[in-house]
Amino acid sequence: MQNNVDWPSVWAVSPEQLLETARSLVQRAYAPYSRFPVGAALLTEKMEVFGGCNIENGSYGLTICAERVAIGNWRCRSDAPILAIAIVAADIGPCYPCGACRQVLQEFAPDVKVLLEDWENGKKPLLLPMQDLYPYPFRP
Ligand code: THU
Repeated sequence: MQNNVDWPSVWAVSPEQLLETARSLVQRAYAPYSRFPVGAALLTEKMEVFGGCNIENGSYGLTICAERVAIGNWRCRSDAPILAIAIVAADIGPCYPCGACRQVLQEFAPDVKVLLEDWENGKKPLLLPMQDLYPYPFRP
């Protein structure tokens, strides 16, 4: 199921701009073990952009995904609700967020739109509602 939704025209940051920020953050990834660099960029209601990249560790399980680094950056500096998050990998598109990141994203942004490159589809990006990616989240 791929329920592509529209990017609201009132948002002053374009999907291409958000993807470009995520692409630039792929360059900041620290991924010497998986060699799978990822960048993420999230957009808030105030049109702020916060980014992240994956940060691996020699103790592999301590790895942090790009999306969760972006959430940490946002949480430290903004109270504005999250509207969208772009996720880009060096070697594949779309790079869907992992299950752990879906759980973390829905905690802060249950209605976030997830923007992904689609290399198979004439480069037209995918924009997927969180509810489709993660319909039954754990909530205590
Ligand atoms: N990774 C992310 O950064 N985000 C995802 O949603 C999936 C996986 C990272 C974790 C690890 O550093 C590498 O990609 C390979 O799993």
